[in-house]
Amino acid sequence: MKQIKIKSSAGDSAIFINEKIKNADKYICAEKRIIITDSNVKRYYEDIFPSADIIEIKSGEANKNLDTIQYIYNKFIELDVDRSSFILCIGGGVITDIAGFAASTFARGVKFGFIPTTLLAQIDAAVGGKNGVDFSGYKNIIGNINQPEFVICDSYFLKTLPKKEVLCGLAEAVKAGAIKDESLFAFIEKNYKKAINLDPDVIEHIIYESVLIKANIVNADAKETGERKLLNFGHTFGHAIELIYNIRHGEAISIGMIISALISVKKGLLSESDFYRIKNLLINLNLAPDKSIKFDMEQAIDSLKRDKKRAGNKIDFILLKSIGKAVREPIDLNELAHAAEFLNA
Ligand SMILES: NC(=O)c1ccc[n+]([C@@H]2O[C@H](COP(=O)([O-])OP(=O)(O)OC[C@H]3O[C@@H](n4cnc5c(N)ncnc54)[C@H](O)[C@@H]3O)[C@@H](O)[C@H]2O)c1
Repeated sequence: MKQIKIKSSAGDSAIFINEKIKNADKYICAEKRIIITDSNVKRYYEDIFPSADIIEIKSGEANKNLDTIQYIYNKFIELDVDRSSFILCIGGGVITDIAGFAASTFARGVKFGFIPTTLLAQIDAAVGGKNGVDFSGYKNIIGNINQPEFVICDSYFLKTLPKKEVLCGLAEAVKAGAIKDESLFAFIEKNYKKAINLDPDVIEHIIYESVLIKANIVNADAKETGERKLLNFGHTFGHAIELIYNIRHGEAISIGMIISALISVKKGLLSESDFYRIKNLLINLNLAPDKSIKFDMEQAIDSLKRDKKRAGNKIDFILLKSIGKAVREPIDLNELAHAAEFLNA
């Protein structure tokens, strides 16, 4: 078991990699515990959950909204949750985002911990303290930054994960390598088949290194005033298309990463050979744009126009100078629309 600490201006958190759910009790400092989980995770794993009342919500991004938050608040009231209670969130990134937000806003904040059950949540969503829900077609537009007490990454959960969800988790690891660590990127390039097949050593290395990258960034800039924005590589465009086309988060950000890398080449920042390394790795991971989707660029650009990072006709974008070196630059929306045409070529 390895531990990574988050010690940030937005609170502290301990992330345990290769810890077991059966040890969760020793990290929970409350008699009254409530588990929040989704229907799939409950179906597979209820028998190994620590003892607690369970709030079950429907799985899927479509439920990451304020209605679900209200449902949870009502359940909290029914179950007499107060500030001495503990909320344990067991599920993928949708659950950790929703449940982290519900716990940290109810009664002005109840302590909570995460047991992420998807690769994407272990690598990324459960780490860093961003909680929240979608609203009116906008991704994560309602939320807060508040750290869970702990995150237990137990690879036992990954065995029931559908292959497509494994690939989506690897997309966030590719992102971490692309922005900060060429050696992680090269490791995934070399071991992508083992990673897809969840080879234990390969997956543990990928989770550990990705979490370390995110934790270092969060420790330096928890509230996303500078460095943390680099984690948005692939996400600005990705978020714009994720809800429109109802595609998985990892699939959407993979498309976003290809577009950002392409713009980086057009601006003379990134070499063509690095662009092809990124594109080929995403193709090897079956994360290349789905040719059966006809992307409506006007709709995507329209959604970007309402993005909080936009100023006039420019939007803040994360570009690459090389694999492992990211920069933040404002880019023109027309330039983006032009690059995005590549998707329908
Ligand atoms: N807060 C952050 O910093 C952050 C970072 C990245 C992504 N996210 C968010 O995370 C979400 C995506 O997370 P996700 O990909 O984990 O999605 P998810 O939570 O929807 O999980 C994907 C699917 O896998 C199922 N599932 C979960 N664990 C399983 C298991 N062990 N076995 C079988 N099935 C299982 C779920 O029920 C769901 O159907 C998005 O909403 C995204 O915005 C948040």
